Amino acid sequence: MICRFVPLLTLTALGGCSGVQSVVAPGGRQAADLNDLFVLMLVVCGTMYALVLGFLGWSLWRRHRPIAAGETAVEPSDRGLSRSLGAWAALIVVGLSVLITASFLTDRSLAERSREETLTIRVTGHQWWWRIEYPAPSGQGTVETANELRVPVGRTARIELASGDVIHSFWVPNLAGKTDAIPGRANALSLTPTRTGWFRGQCAEYCGTQHAHMALDVNVLPKAEFDAWLAGQSDAAADPRGDPVLARGRDHFASGPCAACHTVRGTTAGGRAGPDLTHVASRRSLAAATLPMSRGGLQGWIANPQALKPGTLMPTVPMLPADADAIASYLSSLR
Ligand code: CUA
Repeated sequence: MICRFVPLLTLTALGGCSGVQSVVAPGGRQAADLNDLFVLMLVVCGTMYALVLGFLGWSLWRRHRPIAAGETAVEPSDRGLSRSLGAWAALIVVGLSVLITASFLTDRSLAERSREETLTIRVTGHQWWWRIEYPAPSGQGTVETANELRVPVGRTARIELASGDVIHSFWVPNLAGKTDAIPGRANALSLTPTRTGWFRGQCAEYCGTQHAHMALDVNVLPKAEFDAWLAGQSDAAADPRGDPVLARGRDHFASGPCAACHTVRGTTAGGRAGPDLTHVASRRSLAAATLPMSRGGLQGWIANPQALKPGTLMPTVPMLPADADAIASYLSSLR
């Protein structure tokens, strides 16, 4: 039974190492540098730990083994003891020197990467979502999105971190280490993704009730796809084109309380307190990765945000069911 249980447990533990939010499945150069350092520390410290336990076990065994007839107890000589202690101290000095050198070199390597930056993205933490701003492809101003970071593969992006309220921490484990977003302070980190795909980031500093629901989807794309995506995001919102339900949704959205907090470019809605929703339906999830993106998810979120994310700053706005329905339809058309 135990023979079956141990491999199963090992497989389960290793299975937890892969995936979209893992420090030991690097998808970027910075994460690979940190993972190499982690493995080295694990090997050095693990070896020392095994040696300590080995010597402890050996000494216990010697102390308690039965003495054969005619055998006399032999005390270790002072010289032998000094030699053993000297060898042990030397081993510790070598082990620590290896760790200090590796740590220094990793730090240098991370600093080197920041010189290769080709794209600057501003990420601002809010309770409890991420505002993300890219330089506009036209060269004028910025393009804003929320809770979904897209970056080109093989390029180094500089992520400039800010906070709109309390301290948050930006962390995409597969790509790099974590860096705090602190009010009134400019912090930055570099990301150099090495493979395409989806990853998951998470706020890593307790920032209030919904800290755990302050995640972000991260998509690493080939450069051409990234450029096409950014060009699409810089466009104004899609027009309802005569669809009466979508037009009703847009009008209620842009003239009602929604517009006080949200922007939909191309309409009169220009609020800045909440996420920019110009292309909300193109995102993978809703409410900072709390719900998968869907028409039903949008409607449920509008109807009762407090039930889905208690404490969120998005209020329940009283409105007619037909209006809520039209707004959900309109938002789900904003791709
Ligand atoms: Cu933001 Cu925790």
